[in-house]
Amino acid sequence: MKLLGISGSIRKESYNTKLLHAAAQCLPEGVSLTVIDCGNLPLYNNDFDKEVKPEAVARLLQLIGECDGLLIATPEYNYSIPGVLKNGIDWASRPGYKSVLAKKPAAIVSAAKSAIGGARVQLHLRDVFSSTLTPVVPSPPFLVPMAQDKFDKSGGLVDDSTRSRLERYMKDFVEWVERLTVS
Ligand SMILES: Cc1cc2nc3c(=O)[nH]c(=O)nc-3n(C[C@H](O)[C@H](O)[C@H](O)COP(=O)(O)O)c2cc1C
Repeated sequence: MKLLGISGSIRKESYNTKLLHAAAQCLPEGVSLTVIDCGNLPLYNNDFDKEVKPEAVARLLQLIGECDGLLIATPEYNYSIPGVLKNGIDWASRPGYKSVLAKKPAAIVSAAKSAIGGARVQLHLRDVFSSTLTPVVPSPPFLVPMAQDKFDKSGGLVDDSTRSRLERYMKDFVEWVERLTVS
């Protein structure tokens, strides 16, 4: 199984990107996770959304199209979705209802410096994914509050409780993707 991890942050030391790399280290056997972000995409413009797409967009669509499931790790910006991630979703969402996001199983996780851990961005993202017909795993939200205390300087996830929750979350997500793919 091939998973694609998309970070909602393009910050070099992003906790959400670090969370994706941590997730890649606790996957069941036979499952891989490629980590990307949407920092190289042009701003969505319907004028350029033609059969031949901008190169970075074409690459994003290819990666989403080829993966078995999406893992989004995103910060919350002003209670909602960072523009850079929403821009990527907008590119990937066309043609409406028939895009690479339609029927693509997804999971949403978030890390934030606040105590609430990105709960609000997860709700907003679920709503956006209902518009793209992207099923989101029916698990309790995976949140990493006070993210600055959970990673060390080299980017490793050092909080044992977060790590074991992440292992459980990824196992459940992979099993759910398998069930969806079979049915
Ligand atoms: C523009 C902006 C808006 C933010 N808004 C929120 C917010 O609404 N809720 C929150 O929990 N944290 C908010 N934060 C703080 C982020 O949780 C924190 O910067 C986090 O480290 C961002 O994730 P990253 O490390 O993956 O880049 C905001 C940060 C920025 C730069």
